[in-house]
Amino acid sequence: MEKNDAKPKWYEPSREVTEQANVKEYDQLYRYSIENREAFWAEQANQLSWYKKWDKVLDDQQAPFYNWFVGGRTNIILNAIDRHLKSATRNKLAVIWEGEPGDSRTFSYHALNREVSQFANILKSMGVRKGDVVTIYMPQIPEQLFAMLACAKIGAVHSVVYGGFSHEALADRINDANSRVVITADGGYRRGKVVEMKSVVNKAMELSPTMEICITVKRTGIDVYMENDRDYWLHDLKSLPIASNKCETEEMDASDMLFLLYTSGSTGRPKALVHTHGGYSVYTATTHRMVFDIKPEDRYWCAADPGWITGHSYIVYGPLINGSTIMLYEGAPNHPYPDRWWKMVEKYGINILYTSPTAIRGLMRFGDSWPNRNDISSLRLLGSVGEPINAEAWSWFHRAVGRGNCPIMDTWWQTETGGFIIAPLPITPLKPGSATKPFFGNELAIVDDAGKEVPDGEEGNLVIKSPWPGLAKSVFNDPQRFVDTYWSKYKEQGWYHTGDSAKKDEDGYYWIIGRNDDVIKVSGYRLGSAEIEGIMATHPAIVEAAAIALPHQLKGNAIHITAVLKSTYKPTKELEHELMVHMEEHLGKIARPEAIVFAEALPKTRSGKIMRRLLKSRALGLPDGDLSTMEE
Ligand code: PRX
Repeated sequence: MEKNDAKPKWYEPSREVTEQANVKEYDQLYRYSIENREAFWAEQANQLSWYKKWDKVLDDQQAPFYNWFVGGRTNIILNAIDRHLKSATRNKLAVIWEGEPGDSRTFSYHALNREVSQFANILKSMGVRKGDVVTIYMPQIPEQLFAMLACAKIGAVHSVVYGGFSHEALADRINDANSRVVITADGGYRRGKVVEMKSVVNKAMELSPTMEICITVKRTGIDVYMENDRDYWLHDLKSLPIASNKCETEEMDASDMLFLLYTSGSTGRPKALVHTHGGYSVYTATTHRMVFDIKPEDRYWCAADPGWITGHSYIVYGPLINGSTIMLYEGAPNHPYPDRWWKMVEKYGINILYTSPTAIRGLMRFGDSWPNRNDISSLRLLGSVGEPINAEAWSWFHRAVGRGNCPIMDTWWQTETGGFIIAPLPITPLKPGSATKPFFGNELAIVDDAGKEVPDGEEGNLVIKSPWPGLAKSVFNDPQRFVDTYWSKYKEQGWYHTGDSAKKDEDGYYWIIGRNDDVIKVSGYRLGSAEIEGIMATHPAIVEAAAIALPHQLKGNAIHITAVLKSTYKPTKELEHELMVHMEEHLGKIARPEAIVFAEALPKTRSGKIMRRLLKSRALGLPDGDLSTMEE
C-alpha cells in the first residue's frame, strides 16, 4: 500500500465546480467562525425551523458537557420532514431504495411522512414514550430509516445496532440501554443469500430481561419463530386503526436525547455516545450542505450502513434536513457483478457518492472496465470516510470513478463528533490522502503528550480545542467515562482528545495517520482490542490473548491475535480455525481475526498491561523501542 506521506500532488478544483459552490471562500469565513463561533453557529441554526429559538447559543458552564442552543425547542423531524411538507419539497423524492435482488421502492417526502407517522403511532400503541430506548437491528431497507425517524418523532431514543453483530453483542447493547422494544426484519439479502436477523434477535432476547416487544418487517419471507404477545409483524400492525397517517411531532428540548450509538474504545466494553436533537441537527445539516455542496436537484448517495455514525449523520439526518433525495442500497457492491454500484449511479442519476477507502479498494481490484461500461457522468462530487485513504485508492477513485472531474471530499470525524471535523470544501485544492483543513468553527492542533504543539510535519496527537454543536453530549449512563475517555488527557487545557495521531504540513493540511490507542479499524469498522481479547478469553483453550492491528491491502487494518493456550491444548491449524469462528459467533464476522499465533506468554509491563505496541513492532519487523517498563 502506498504511504500517505508520499510527495503530495495538488489537485485544483475545476471552474465548473468552484463557480457553483455553495461556499466560495474558506479562509475568511474560517477566521470569522473562530472569532465569532457562537454567531457563526447561530446563523447556521437560523436556517432551520424551531418551535422556539434558543436563549443562549452555547452554555459551557458544565464543560465538557456542553449545551448548545439552550432553551431552544425543536425536534429533528421538524426539520427533516415536517417543514418540507409545506414547500415544493413535499413531492420531491426523499428516498430511492434498491434491494439486492433488484427490487426497488421510492418515497416522496409526503410518503416518508406517512410511513414515519404510521410507524410512530405503532410505537406509541406499544407504550413507547419520550425518552424510552428502542433498539433497531435491521438490514438496509427503507423500514430501517422509518424506524429511526419514527422514534425521533415521538421523542424516543433509537439505538441502532449494526446488522452484522452477533446475538451476544446485540444483547449487550439492549441490556446496557435498558431497551424494551426491538425492531428487526426476518432477514436481508447479501451476496445473493438471505442473512437471518429475526433468529439472531430471538437469541438476544433470551439474554435480555428488559426486552418485551419485537416488531418484525417481512423482507425475505423465510420462516421465523414468533411468540404470542411478544412478536408482531409490522404489516399486521400497519393494517390496524392504530397505525394512522397522522402523528404530532413531539416538541423536544434542544438538549434532549435523539439517539444512542455504541462504539468501541481502547478499554472495556463498547459505550453508547448520546447525541441530541438541537446541536446535532445544526451540525449535520451545515456540514452536509457545505462540504457536499448540496443543490435542490441533487441525488445523493452515502453508501455506508445506517448502523454506524456515517449512516446516522450523512444518510439519514443531514441529507433529510437539507431536503435531499437520498439513495439507499441493501446489498454488496459487487453483486452480482462488480459494476452493481455503477449501474445504480447510471440508473438513478446519482450526483454525489460518499463511501469508504475499503469499499473503493474492493472495487478497484476489479479494474476500470467495470465503471467504464456504465455512464456515470452524472457524478459531480465524491467522498471518503472511516480510515486514511491511500494514494493509490484515491487516484483510482478520482480517475476511474470521477473521470478526473470530481473532487474527493476526504472527511475526518468520529462517532463522538457527530459530523465532519476536518474536510475540504469543493473549492479546496486537494492533496490525495489529506482530509485538508478544519471545518468552520473548529480549532485543532497536533500536540505531544504534554500538550505542546509539535512542529509542522511531525507526528503527534490530534486534539480539538473548541466545542462544536455536533459533539456528543455524554456517554449514556456513564458521564464519568465521557470525561475520562476524551477530556482527561488534556484536562488543564480543556481539549478534546481524539485518539488519532496525525501530522499537519506547511500548508496547514492535516494528514491522519491512524489510531494511537487500542482501537482497531477493520475496513473502517471500529473495534476495541480489549473487547476482542475479552471474547477470545471466553474460549476454553485460551489463557489470555492480545489483539493488534496490522496493515491489510484491502481492509486497511486486520486483526492479529497472539494467544496463550492452556497446557492441555495443542497449537493446531484446527484450533486456529475454531478460534476464528469463535470470534465471528460472539462478536460478528467483522471481528474474524486475520491470523492467530500461539505464544508461551504475552509481553507485559510491570503493572501487568499487555504491551501491544511491542507485538506490533515485532510483527512489522521494526525496532522494539523502549522496553524499560517490561516485566522480567
Ligand atoms: O481513526 C479515525 C478514523 O475513524 C475513527 C472514528 O471511527 P468511527 O467513530 O467509527 O467513525 C467513523 C466514521 C466517521 C477516527 O478516530 N477516520 C474517520 N475518518 C477518517 C479516519 N481516518 C482517516 N481519514 C478519515 N477521513
